[in-house]
Amino acid sequence: MPPTNNDRSLVIVANRLPVQRVRRGTTSTWQTSLGGLVAALHPLLRKHGGSWVGWPGGEGGSSRAFRHDGMDIKPVTLSASQIEGFYEGFSNGTLWPLYHDVLRTPRFRRSWWRSYVEVNQKFADAIEPLVGPGSMVWIHDYHLQLVPKMLRQRRADLRIGFFLHIPFPAPELFARMPWRTEVLKGLLASDVIGFQTRAVAQNFLRASRRLTRATGSGCTLRLDDHTIRVQPFPIAIDIEEFETLANAESAGERTRSLRAKFGPKRKLVLGVDRLDYTKGIDVRLRAIEEVLRRGEFSARDMCFVQIAVPSRENVDDYASLRREVEQAVGRINGEYAEPGQVAVHYLHRRLSREDLVAYYMAADVMMVTPLRDGMNLIAKEYAASRIDGTGVLLLSEFAGAANELRQAVLVNPFDIDGMAKAVQTALTMPPAEQRRRMRSLRNAVHSYDLYDWAARFLGALRGDQDA
Ligand code: F6P
Repeated sequence: MPPTNNDRSLVIVANRLPVQRVRRGTTSTWQTSLGGLVAALHPLLRKHGGSWVGWPGGEGGSSRAFRHDGMDIKPVTLSASQIEGFYEGFSNGTLWPLYHDVLRTPRFRRSWWRSYVEVNQKFADAIEPLVGPGSMVWIHDYHLQLVPKMLRQRRADLRIGFFLHIPFPAPELFARMPWRTEVLKGLLASDVIGFQTRAVAQNFLRASRRLTRATGSGCTLRLDDHTIRVQPFPIAIDIEEFETLANAESAGERTRSLRAKFGPKRKLVLGVDRLDYTKGIDVRLRAIEEVLRRGEFSARDMCFVQIAVPSRENVDDYASLRREVEQAVGRINGEYAEPGQVAVHYLHRRLSREDLVAYYMAADVMMVTPLRDGMNLIAKEYAASRIDGTGVLLLSEFAGAANELRQAVLVNPFDIDGMAKAVQTALTMPPAEQRRRMRSLRNAVHSYDLYDWAARFLGALRGDQDA
């Protein structure tokens, strides 16, 4: 159920707006985006009023506020140099690799930092005129960590919440960043700071005590007479949406058609990810290659389908990952495909929700093997879509979701032999064991949904002690 917001007005702030510009012939219109966060917060804004502040994507455009689908939208536009310095640079070339345990080398460029400060200020400037006395402002993610302090300096009356969707690294790694204190102080001006898991909340608490004058134990910090609640709020999915899609007649037809195309007698192993180096697509391919090399399974028995959603293509590390993945797909097929039976299918595109659910329903085994991930909602979506109660989820220990989905086959993605063995276990798992594990996964996913998640966070922001 959509949450309620009691009396305070609400402003949501995220790097991306919940709407996208879509071209129709010679004109273009705004369309509400698909996706978890929008699904959870849209009903709330529509019911109680409130605004969403964010970047509309692309360069320039109008920053005039407008109303769409029951929401007040305030665009924060970016220049070409801000896209390069703030978004591709500091957000995705410094913070993203640093916060994902340095899977790639973070670059500490002073010009990117200056751009980050400038754009965070631009967001704070855009928010201030929208907030009435005592309003709640809920800021999302690593792009906007300085905004809480920038707002607080001007408006002591606000209730400011911040939720980090990605991991927060161990203090020893975080401490490498030249602007570590500014970032922590930016965040510590919030009233509530939410993380995906207890472990990353602990990382933040330790970093704050070590690198600032913040004190406190448990989940409460104090800095300069200000109290901050720091707590895990693991994000969830809209279960009803996935179950409705899975129960639709058309889903059954799509699933049967996919099975027929890939070969009804072959086992289908699936991966669905943004094409990002944190997701472990490359190591997953090496594990599949290892399974085929061992010879117990051939391309006649199984195929692996990787759906890779294009992402951040102007950032170097993403472009080189794409080359690596595409080379690996070519190499594996060159070695192991049979006439008419491709070993690895690679789809570099975004799928509709309907097609995505049909793939989940068709897959005997789902591989979710990030090297590091804040939560990973694909794992939860797979369980929600398996209304037939079967299917095997292979899940990385390093995804936040592994804390909740304990009956997945848990794998260490850095261990190729272990992963290959887990794929073999999954491919041969008896239906009774599949059902037992899937029942537990589905129970975990059903225990709370995206609306409960948003309601809990906003409850904490209002000051409810039991939220
Ligand atoms: O997981 C972090 C995140 O920023 C999500 O909020 C977002 O959907 C995804 O990465 C894609 O990021 P971008 O906005 O860079 O396309």
